[in-house]
Formats: sequence, structure tokens, C-alpha cells
Amino acid sequence: MPVRKNRDSLVCTCAILIVIVAEILLFSASDARAGGGQDSAGAKATFQTKCAMCHGPDGTGSEVGKSLNIPDLRSEAVRKVPDAELVKIVSDGKGGMPPFKGSLTEAQIHALVRYVRSLRQHKK
Ligand code: HEC
Repeated sequence: MPVRKNRDSLVCTCAILIVIVAEILLFSASDARAGGGQDSAGAKATFQTKCAMCHGPDGTGSEVGKSLNIPDLRSEAVRKVPDAELVKIVSDGKGGMPPFKGSLTEAQIHALVRYVRSLRQHKK
């Protein structure tokens, strides 16, 4: 049934477009916040270089991360973890997660935790 098929692929195209638009909004929103200071822009860059290889650029987890059973940083489960605990996990490591207190300053780790929280705000 050609008509039906066309509609299905239209739905599919729409879904892809929505994802792309959401992505653009997400990035422009975090750039807007970064306007307040270098802080979150710096954290974003640090996240991309130090964390994205496991956590993925958006915190959902890369292929490597998934093989380590990584939690989605935007998930409800991580949302419930207090900031202080996340700071501690990033500093000291946990399970497959390496400690970063040797390579990042405390301020950088705090900024990263704020960055992780900002990823989450865009999850529907
Ligand atoms: C080598 C892969 C790897 C890298 C690099 C990495 N992580 Fe992780 N991360 C993990 C794994 C695996 C876990 C899950 C640990 C567990 O619960 O056993 C985790 C857990 C976390 C958690 C805790 C989530 C929760 O509530 O359990 C946070 C926050 C986090 N990572 C942030 C970061 C940040 C920020 C960076 C960059 C500075 C980073 N990670 C770099 C692998 C990684």
C-alpha cells in the first residue's frame, strides 16, 4: 500500500527532524548559559575531552561506556544522586570510572557536575 508507506516514512522523517531540532536547541541553550562566564563553556570542553569517550557527548553513554555498564547521566537515577556525591565519584572514581582528582582541579570537577546537571534539564 503505497499511501500508507509514504505516511510511515513521513512520520520517520519528522521524528528525525525533531531530534535534530532538539539537539540544536540543547546546544544553543547551553551556549546561552555559558555566556555568563567561561565556567560552563570550559566544563563543556572538558567533558568532551575527558568524559565523552565513555559518557558520550550528551551524557547518555558511548559504546565504550555501555560496555562498562555506564549509567545515563541524564537519567532519573543520576538525578537523585546529590551533587556532593557526584563530585566525589568524579574525584575518586567508582567501578569502571577512573578518578579525576589528579588531572582536574576541584573547581573543574564542580563545574563538570553542574554541566552534567545541565544535560539532564533537557531530557523529556
Ligand atoms: C573510562 C570510562 C569513563 C570516563 C573517562 C569517565 N567516566 Fe564517569 N563513569 C564511568 C562508569 C563505568 C560509571 C559507573 C560507575 C559505577 O556506578 O560503577 C561512571 C559514573 C559516573 C558518574 C556517576 C553516575 C551515578 O550516579 O552513578 C558521574 C557523575 C560521572 N561518571 C561523571 C564523569 C565525568 C564528569 C567524567 C569526566 C571528567 C567521567 N565521568 C569520565 C566511566 C567513565
